[in-house]
Amino acid sequence: MSHMKKLFGILFVAGLVAGSAVAQNDEVQTRIEPVGSTCMQGEECAAAPAPAVAAGPKSGKDVYTGFCTTCHGAGVMGAPKFGTAADWAPRTSKGKDTLYTHAISGFNAMPPKGMCAACSDDEIKAAVDYMVDGSK
Ligand code: HEC
Repeated sequence: MSHMKKLFGILFVAGLVAGSAVAQNDEVQTRIEPVGSTCMQGEECAAAPAPAVAAGPKSGKDVYTGFCTTCHGAGVMGAPKFGTAADWAPRTSKGKDTLYTHAISGFNAMPPKGMCAACSDDEIKAAVDYMVDGSK
């Protein structure tokens, strides 16, 4: 029986540790944010991409750089080019809501969510805003 007691004691302590780890998670996350800078030179982690589990939603810029630039950077397949106002004017004249819908659901050669399947609708909208604002 004392064996069980000891086991429960360990589980209880483990629970406390896990609990406080969750509470501190936010703080820890901000402290380790610049992943690259915590790596020693020559270590493999220095070259590793930022963890996919980001704290909070991706910014429009992040989504653009990660996905949309593939086509919108150079205007592939007739995609309106980032930074080219003449490409975007006929698009924005349709209204932002149409652009959001087309970016999320796809439009001709424009793939749904710009191939960022893991992006939320809001993240896609932020990327549209980023492109439109950067192409005036
Ligand atoms: C595989 C290439 C490709 C990728 C990746 C891509 N797009 Fe596009 N996008 C296109 C093409 C091509 C068009 C033009 C479609 C047309 O007008 O027929 C387009 C058009 C658009 C439009 C204008 C829609 C309209 O109604 O005129 C928006 C907004 C847009 N893309 C947003 C995005 C966003 C946001 C991303 C990244 C999350 C993205 N795209 C990624 C190819 C791409």
